[in-house]
Amino acid sequence: GKGIVIAIDGPSGSGKSSTAKGVAKARELRYLDTGAMYRALTWWMLDNGVDVDDAAAVAANVERPVITMGTDPSAPTVAVDGRDVAAEIRGKDVTTNVSAVSAVPEARALLVRTQREIIEAARNESAGIVVEGRDITTVVAPQAPVKLFLTASAEARAQRRSKEVRTGDIAATQADLARRDMLDSSRSHSPLTQTADATELDTTGLNLDEVVALVVKLADEAG
Ligand code: C5P
Repeated sequence: GKGIVIAIDGPSGSGKSSTAKGVAKARELRYLDTGAMYRALTWWMLDNGVDVDDAAAVAANVERPVITMGTDPSAPTVAVDGRDVAAEIRGKDVTTNVSAVSAVPEARALLVRTQREIIEAARNESAGIVVEGRDITTVVAPQAPVKLFLTASAEARAQRRSKEVRTGDIAATQADLARRDMLDSSRSHSPLTQTADATELDTTGLNLDEVVALVVKLADEAG
């Protein structure tokens, strides 16, 4: 049979990446971080001098970079034209500009197509895949048997993200997350939205193991 698809959406810092990786490892599934794809595309635009606030310029260039994702949850990779950009895409420049790029319909169309191809390949060759992002439950894989919307308080999200990026400035991190959430939720094309058919999981008071165990249980119940 074909493998399972577990779709996870939520705002920045809600625990999506750690949860998705943990579940994929626990059940030997593939793992796809779609945010890394938008970040990789943004990195290429900045590196090539494209004005990311010019939607037409972004649209005209979306086909140029070749973005390649490695979907092993123990060692996920992201490359642009064969170059490993895992470190670059976590930098401040990319983080500041990614919402502008991800609001461009042509950028989304291209990456959604690639994401669906990766999902189909994983379903055909292995147990399945865990996919995380902002529009996975709504646009990329609305038929997924397990659909989750992760939330956490603004404070908890800022604290987690500060640890990840090793900054002590939690207030600045919280402001940056709030800004990106606002942009990602209010854009006209595929905004971050919580739908009724996705299971909401508030991770504020839970540790990673607890969240992973809950999601694994839901996945096992879904078959
Ligand atoms: O998850 P992460 O914070 O790395 O995502 C970076 C950005 O990529 C988000 O702020 C959002 O603008 C965009 N994104 C998106 N759709 C997705 C995943 C990420 O628009 N499925």
